[in-house]
Amino acid sequence: MNQAKKLYLETFGCQMNVSDSEKIVTLMKGMGYQQTQDPVDADLVLLNTCSIRATAEQRVYGHLGKFKSIKKTKPGLIIGVGGCVAQQEGEKLLKKAPFVNLVFGTHNLHLLQGMVAAAEEGKRSSQTDFLDDEKRFDLFPHSEAEGGGTRFVTVMQGCDNFCAYCIVPHVRGREISRSAAKVVEEVRALADSGVTEVTLLGQNVNSYCSKQPGEPDFPDLLRLVAQVDGIERIRFTTSHPKDMSPRLIECFADLSKLAPHIHLPAQSGSDRVLQKMNRGYTAQQYLAKVAALKEACPGIQFTGDMIVGFPGEDEAAFQDTMALMEQVQYADLFSFIYSARPGTKAAEYADDATRAEKQGRLERLQAAQKQTTLARNRSLEGTVQKVLVEGLSSTGDSLFGRTGGNRGTVMAGDPSLAGRVLDVRIVEGLQTLLKGEIVHD
Ligand code: 5AD
Ligand code: SF4
Repeated sequence: MNQAKKLYLETFGCQMNVSDSEKIVTLMKGMGYQQTQDPVDADLVLLNTCSIRATAEQRVYGHLGKFKSIKKTKPGLIIGVGGCVAQQEGEKLLKKAPFVNLVFGTHNLHLLQGMVAAAEEGKRSSQTDFLDDEKRFDLFPHSEAEGGGTRFVTVMQGCDNFCAYCIVPHVRGREISRSAAKVVEEVRALADSGVTEVTLLGQNVNSYCSKQPGEPDFPDLLRLVAQVDGIERIRFTTSHPKDMSPRLIECFADLSKLAPHIHLPAQSGSDRVLQKMNRGYTAQQYLAKVAALKEACPGIQFTGDMIVGFPGEDEAAFQDTMALMEQVQYADLFSFIYSARPGTKAAEYADDATRAEKQGRLERLQAAQKQTTLARNRSLEGTVQKVLVEGLSSTGDSLFGRTGGNRGTVMAGDPSLAGRVLDVRIVEGLQTLLKGEIVHD
C-alpha cells in the first residue's frame, strides 16, 4: 500500500488566513496529502503568510530558511508560499528563493491543486492574479476542519478603506461580498453537522454588500443567520467603527443569539492621528458608538486594536489614546508599534518617533491594559456565563471554552461536552483566563 504523502502547513497572521488554511488542508487531502506536525517528515511544506507588519514578513523569511536546510537533505521536498507575502512578492519570491516551488496569492487557492501537481512533475509556478468576482468563494470546497462546535464562515473579503498604514487593501484586493443565500446555506450545513457557533468573517464585515444596494446588508444577514436552527451563538469580525450603524447596534439588543462581544479597533484616540490614518471618525464619534452598544447590550465586552508611534503621534496624542482606552474599558486589546509598509500612503510620511519612544508608549499602554483586563476578569467572579465548550484545555486536564463576551474559560468536565453551550459559574478571574465550574441544575 502506498504511504500517504505528508503536508506540513504553517499559518501566520489573521483569522482570514486561519480560515484559508482550513480550506488548504481540505484541498490537499483531496490530493492524498495528510497533515503532519513535523516538517522533517513532510513531502509538501506550505506557508500561509502575513505581511501586516515588517516583523510578520521577516518571520516568513526566517522560516523559509529552516525549510531550505531540510530540503538539502530531502531534495524532493515541495515548498509553497501563499497568503499576503506571496501576493506582494509573486514571481520575485521564486527568484529570491530558488528552493521555493510555488507561490500562490490570496485569490488563487482554487489553483493550488494544479500548482502542487505541476510541482510534483518538477515545474515551478507563481499565480497572483486577483479574481474580483463572487465566484471566487465557490471555487474551492468548504473546509472540513473540526472546531469543537465553532466555525468561521467567510461573508466578504478584501477592503476598500485604504487606512493609511494598512497593506490589506493592496494584498487582499477590493471588497467583495458573498451572496446571503450562499452564507445561510453554509451556516445551515454547519448546523446540521453539529456546529453551534459561527463567526462571520471578513476584513470589514459591517460594510457587507454596501456595493450591492438592494441586497441584504450586514444587519439583514445577521437576522437571517439567527434564524438557522441549531446555531446558538453568532459572532463576527472585523468591524470598522465608521460602519457600525444604528441598525447594526440594534441587532445586539434584538438578537439573543448574537454574542455580547465586539472587536472594534479604534487604532488611536487622537483626532489628528485618526484623520492622518484616514479612519473616517473622531474619538468622540467612536466613543458615542461604544456608548450606544453598551446601552443596547449591557455587559457587552469590547476588544480592539491600537497602533502606537504612527507618524505625527506626539506624547499628547498618545495620551488621547490612553484616555480613550480608559473610557472604553476594553476586555482585551491588541497593540502594535507602527510599521511602515511599502506602497501604503503612510510610508510616504516621516516616521518621526524614535524606536525608544515607540517602545516606551507600547509598554505604558500594555501595562494599563493589563490592569483593566485583570479588573474586568475579576468583576466576572460569581456571575454565571454561557460558555461554549471548545474541547480540552492546553494542559489537557480540564475543558476550555469561551463566554459570550469571548473570555477564555477553563473548567472541569467531560470531553464529550465539546460543542455544547453550558451555564458556567466564574469562580476566579485571572490575567489571561477565567476559571469556572459548570452549573448543574
Ligand atoms: N503597523 C502596525 N500595525 C498595523 N496594523 C495594520 N497595519 C499596521 C502597520 N502598518 C494593525 C492594526 C490592525 C491590526 C490587524 O494590525 O491595528 O487593526
Ligand atoms: Fe486595513 Fe483599514 Fe481595511 Fe482594516 S479597514 S483592513 S485597517 S485598510
